[in-house]
Amino acid sequence: MTDIRLFDSPEDLAAGAALFFADIAEESLRKRGRFAVALAGGSTPEQAYGLLAEPPLRDRIDWTRTEVFFGDERAVPPDHAESNYCMASRTLLSKVPLPDANIHRIEAERTDLEQAARDYERILRETLGATKVSPPRLDLILLGIGRDGHTASIFPGSEELARGPELVAHMLRTKTRDARLTLTFPVLNAARNVVFLVSGPAKAEIVSAVLEGHRGGDLLPPSRVMPEDGTLTFLLDRDAAP
Ligand code: 6PG
Repeated sequence: MTDIRLFDSPEDLAAGAALFFADIAEESLRKRGRFAVALAGGSTPEQAYGLLAEPPLRDRIDWTRTEVFFGDERAVPPDHAESNYCMASRTLLSKVPLPDANIHRIEAERTDLEQAARDYERILRETLGATKVSPPRLDLILLGIGRDGHTASIFPGSEELARGPELVAHMLRTKTRDARLTLTFPVLNAARNVVFLVSGPAKAEIVSAVLEGHRGGDLLPPSRVMPEDGTLTFLLDRDAAP
């Protein structure tokens, strides 16, 4: 069942997303003694991350028992303005009592991106205790949606590369050909909770296509995110809503 929640403004959306994050964190910690989350990149989550870095939400979460992963990363150094890690570190990770060992950065700056993907897959499995057959289950995966219909770094037309069984794939952004590493559908669809966080009028058309489940018969990457045993939630501001 897909839950769609609308917010009146980008500010309300950020507050709603931060609260959603904290609620799932508290539930995960209460039920399993740990909270494992994959953060989204891009610009939309920045405001929500900032709210999580301050009281009261910051103090609701036991960051010492939180494991932070990333949904995808660009092939740039971790201090680069385009780095998803850099944005998350600036807005959230550097402001909460999260042990460095609990931050699992995708090393997409490496020359050998295939090896970097394999290494990240191993970290996912080892940290989350996945078996060879079942993908690791994250408690929460935050995702955005690009105007072209991509999510994480799964771009329209490259869905097959994200089909699995690999948990992490090396992608090339369709238009710019810049290299990315991304979690694949098996990981996204194994999560206990997946949330799409989308804001602004520029996204309304693509959100409508995603919610219709297809565009011209093709399932866009976000439409292929269907958690097998988890919740799927769209957090939208009114400008992004169909
Ligand atoms: C990335 C993100 C990507 C992002 C969308 C939306 O690395 O670019 O992971 O999937 O979520 O492109 O980006 P905005 O929030 O900037 O619109």
